[in-house]
Amino acid sequence: MVLDWLARNPRADRSRRYAAAQRAVIDPTSLPDIGSLGVPDKGPTPLLALPALAERLEVGEVRVKDESQRFGFGAFKALGGVFAVHEFMAAHKGRRPADFVFTTASSGNHGRSVAMGAQLVGARCVIFLPRFTSAEKEAAIRARGAEVIRIDGDYDTAVAECRRQAGQNGWTIISDTSWPGYETVPRDVMRGYTVLADEIVRQWPQMPTHVLIQAGVGGLAAALIGYLWATLPQRPLFVIVEPSSADCWFQSNLAGKPASASGNADTVMGGLACREISPITWPVIGFGADWFMTIEEDQVMPTRQLLGHPLGNDPAIASGPSGCAGLAALVRLCGNKDARGAVGLDKDARVLLINSEGNLGEGSA
Ligand SMILES: Cc1ncc(COP(=O)(O)O)c(C=O)c1O
Repeated sequence: MVLDWLARNPRADRSRRYAAAQRAVIDPTSLPDIGSLGVPDKGPTPLLALPALAERLEVGEVRVKDESQRFGFGAFKALGGVFAVHEFMAAHKGRRPADFVFTTASSGNHGRSVAMGAQLVGARCVIFLPRFTSAEKEAAIRARGAEVIRIDGDYDTAVAECRRQAGQNGWTIISDTSWPGYETVPRDVMRGYTVLADEIVRQWPQMPTHVLIQAGVGGLAAALIGYLWATLPQRPLFVIVEPSSADCWFQSNLAGKPASASGNADTVMGGLACREISPITWPVIGFGADWFMTIEEDQVMPTRQLLGHPLGNDPAIASGPSGCAGLAALVRLCGNKDARGAVGLDKDARVLLINSEGNLGEGSA
């Protein structure tokens, strides 16, 4: 089978144990206490079964973890930035929030989460946004009391500018991506995301056989893979999903080490529009993911429609362009006999997807 959009991970040894190198990235024994964050709605998001869709795709089950319902925030990112700001203040006991200016680059959702975290603790916040982030997302960040700096460039350019200005001004970066020497905060952000993985383990005792998970820098995927790999007796098969223009994980898999995307990350899937991976996630995703695949822009709208106007009595799910990526990947795999066979998507497959964001403004990031 030769497909330019699907590649096996040659390092994925399914008998490999979750070891110290992985535990240093995602520690399944240190789940955050969401109750202490001061967020309004602390309950788990639903895990929705879509039996009519499963039948249509000829797989056993499809379930969607619906993060559009997280905290009334509309995306899983609420778990990361809010928690990382909270952890930072906890690690600086005796200091006042007014002593800090929190900042990050973001395609939208993470910035909104950091703004929410800063607002909850009462600190100033400055968010760097790339050119493509929607006006709705900018307004939502400002509504959380943060200042916004627009960068005439993409997400990775916004990260570089955030680092430059933070260094000049003494601001504290709460980034979801890592770089050499900057690892503690992105690790806390991912620790926040493990909450959703833990909820899934409780909500689905039978557990999935397949997990299709969209990646930008890889924080969400690392949290999910790490937590499930560490805690489940049988590791599900993990498929990493990216837009073809922002395929930094796909290329890293081929290179056997962190590598840049082959395209310019010009995609409507703004949350996935990253040209570089978060390097700390490599020990988990680089060894724990089984397959890497890309999807195309023209799959986004039909997939959002399929979630919003479901088959039979399946529940309707509001998804954003990045949120629906896992289902777009499942449809692509199921539509290709060789790919379906290689990944083992048959009548016994129980497939987990993450609707990582709701419909937060058309075509938005
Ligand atoms: C809605 C959505 N889904 C998925 C992702 C990807 O997360 P990560 O960058 O941690 O891989 C993002 C990141 O911004 C996002 O906003």
